[in-house]
Amino acid sequence: MGCLTCTYALSILTALSLILLGTCTSGQHTDTVFKRASHLKMDEAFLLIHNELKSEKFEVFWLSDQCFQCAYQPLVHVRKENVSTVVDARHPLTLQINETSTNRVLCSIHYTFREFGNYSVWVKASPADHNNISCDIIIDYNPVYSYLPIIVAFLVYLGIFCVFYLVSCIFRLDSVRNWLCKKMNPVETDRLINSELGSPSRADLYQEFHSATSNRLRSLDTFRGLALIIMVFVNYGGGGYWFFKHQSWNGLTLADLVFPWFVFIMGTSIYLSLNSMLRKGNTRWKLFGKVVWRSIQLFLIGLFVINENYCHGPLSWSDLRIMGVLQRLSVTYLVVSVLELLFAKPTPDALPQNCFPLQDLVLFWPQWVIILTLEAAWLCLTYLLPVPGCPAGYLGPGGIGDFGKFPNCTGGAAGYIDRMVLGKGHIYQHPSSNVIYKTTMPYDPEGILGTINSVVIAFLGLQAGKILVFYRNQHKQVVGRFFAWSILLGVVSAVLTKCSKNEGFIPVNKNLWSVSYVTTLSSFAFFLLLLIYFLVDVKKLWSGAPFYYPGMNSILVYVGHEVFEDYFPFKWKMQDIYSHGEHLAQNLLATSIWVLIAYILYRKKIFWKI
Ligand SMILES: *[C@@H]1O[C@H](CO)[C@@H](O)[C@H](O)[C@H]1NC(C)=O
Ligand SMILES: *[C@@H]1O[C@H](CO)[C@@H](O)[C@H](O)[C@H]1NC(C)=O
Ligand SMILES: *[C@@H]1O[C@H](CO)[C@@H](O)[C@H](O)[C@H]1NC(C)=O
Ligand SMILES: *[C@@H]1O[C@H](CO)[C@@H](O)[C@H](O)[C@H]1NC(C)=O
Ligand SMILES: *[C@@H]1O[C@H](CO)[C@@H](O)[C@H](O)[C@H]1NC(C)=O
Repeated sequence: MGCLTCTYALSILTALSLILLGTCTSGQHTDTVFKRASHLKMDEAFLLIHNELKSEKFEVFWLSDQCFQCAYQPLVHVRKENVSTVVDARHPLTLQINETSTNRVLCSIHYTFREFGNYSVWVKASPADHNNISCDIIIDYNPVYSYLPIIVAFLVYLGIFCVFYLVSCIFRLDSVRNWLCKKMNPVETDRLINSELGSPSRADLYQEFHSATSNRLRSLDTFRGLALIIMVFVNYGGGGYWFFKHQSWNGLTLADLVFPWFVFIMGTSIYLSLNSMLRKGNTRWKLFGKVVWRSIQLFLIGLFVINENYCHGPLSWSDLRIMGVLQRLSVTYLVVSVLELLFAKPTPDALPQNCFPLQDLVLFWPQWVIILTLEAAWLCLTYLLPVPGCPAGYLGPGGIGDFGKFPNCTGGAAGYIDRMVLGKGHIYQHPSSNVIYKTTMPYDPEGILGTINSVVIAFLGLQAGKILVFYRNQHKQVVGRFFAWSILLGVVSAVLTKCSKNEGFIPVNKNLWSVSYVTTLSSFAFFLLLLIYFLVDVKKLWSGAPFYYPGMNSILVYVGHEVFEDYFPFKWKMQDIYSHGEHLAQNLLATSIWVLIAYILYRKKIFWKI
């Protein structure tokens, strides 16, 4: 039945791809899809401004919709002639045309330019009334459809998935399996007979391997793998699309989702592993030693192996970036594990049914007190710490944001603390805000203050772990609780952000790891984990492949993808460095190779544990 559906799907898919390929390569469309003016870079459009006014000079300013409360930026100065310029084609923008002599606004246009298009603006006065100025935009040459590569990639992956599914369908047919077994493994039947005499058959080994891992929740590894794979794709460039890169300041893109999820699921795993090790009779001191040693290793790998500042050439002590992704994971891991070791309670194998319903919370009240204290500390430092030259409680990006009033205040207190404690040279030099907001201050998205909130999200993950352990095999309880947490955190986020990107009490912000960012992302995480848990561990409808494999080997894949970023199959010299298509193909291929590597290592049972 499933096989039949898939055959249909495959044929429809093939037809679709062919039609698409046909339209792409046929006649006049070739230009539209693949060509661009040679001087345009990625995400740019060409704009020609025609001055039809008799004796006026004017200035053109621009402002991206993405830039919240920004000052207008000068684009070009137009004298008596036509002037050409290049405009941003990622976000809608406003062009404001001011007369040079009087600085009055001649006109203002809101428009979405598209990639590699050729546009003209005609600035004209009406013949009757010289003060009636009109500015019309005309498309001289059609833009390309930038999202086409994403659609193609999606269809290709769908195709690959269907082929895999079909092949596994065929392999599952008994007759085929028997035939294959005989062909490829003539000794196998002999061995099955011999197994009575003591030599283990392949089937036994297979079962052994699988029963050893079957206690492990597949959903956790699947979730971790999903986050990790998106992280790899995004770090490799995400095809150059802005929505696959980090948000410039407030708001969320795909890239902003994955690191907190990774932290969340780390919290869940911490609970499961510490709990099981405590029950096996390990002492807290021994576990504490292990935790400290693992944190130190993680920190050192992050510091020396994959330091971001290597992109400036060889590292020196004066510009060594101290914090980073692994460093933050390390500190978070240490804090949350210690918190758990301090207050861990031995959990009984099965809970009596008549227990009060919130015991997974109430039993751990001291941990909650500490977490709420930490959160209060974050709030106090963020909102009350006096920062020289900046208003207290400033949460903006600096640069041209806030109408350019606080250019050096990037990140408010969080940025200030990092610059004071770590030093300007020891933090991240190119925060995502420098694209839209033109910030010049270094700012570290993995800085000290944000680490508090990363502890909080890991603790919420720990809570998920508690639910999984307390209600082991009571799927309804687990699903219900995950859902309740997801709703609760979702409501908190809605209140904090007033359901808006920039106007809330505390906007969602990846650079600051603001409270609303933590609640929003953990709300998503609870929900996603619920889905994956239900599909993978409860109903067993999905094995978790392919995300399961990288999830089992996350440190190796993370470190590997950073270290080998510039090596051949992961990156090659591109024909056209400004094409989204080629970037996307390269980044997706590199990501797929890491999944494949993780799969091979899984089959060979090689796991990098620290
Ligand atoms: C867009 O206009 C510029 C200037 O007129 C020209 O050089 C370029 O070739 C045009 N691009 C396309 C794709 O026609
Ligand atoms: C400006 O553009 C118009 C229309 O393309 C053209 O007729 C005119 O000659 C151009 N003027 C200059 C000074 O290039
Ligand atoms: C354009 O002129 C208006 C009116 O004088 C002024 O308010 C505005 O600031 C000017 N725009 C820029 C970018 O200078
Ligand atoms: C300006 O001129 C256009 C035509 O060029 C006309 O439609 C419009 O009504 C005029 N506006 C004013 C305020 O005179
Ligand atoms: C911001 O910093 C730059 C360089 O450090 C300095 O030149 C500039 O004056 C500062 N701006 C303000 C408003 O403090």
